[in-house]
Amino acid sequence: MYTEKVMDHFANPRNVGEIPDADGIGKVGNPQCGDVMWLYIKVRDDIVTDIKFKTFGCGAAIATSSMITELAIGKTLEEAKKISRQDVAESLDGLPPQKMHCSNLAADALRKAIEDYETKKAAKAKA
Ligand code: FES
Repeated sequence: MYTEKVMDHFANPRNVGEIPDADGIGKVGNPQCGDVMWLYIKVRDDIVTDIKFKTFGCGAAIATSSMITELAIGKTLEEAKKISRQDVAESLDGLPPQKMHCSNLAADALRKAIEDYETKKAAKAKA
């Protein structure tokens, strides 16, 4: 039911953890199941230079969280914002249809972390 890539990212998730001095943090809950993900980013010159996540959720949520960290690192903020749940699912060679909602978490958390960074940056610019 799960592809090898999903199993690999579930068993060996990349970039797990927290960034204590993160530039942006995104927290998202999945209304369909109650699972939660936190995503932390470091940004330099509008590029995602570091990214970590903590996901309290199902295997598919962990695998998609892990995959999105690999997709986002090194990307510009504009490129990272465009990463969709379909991109994440395709990079994992697909998810079972009933688990597609799990990939919302990762894509939404990344966008929220970028928004958080942009809000903080705008506030600093005003100060
Ligand atoms: Fe909750 Fe997958 S069942 S994110």
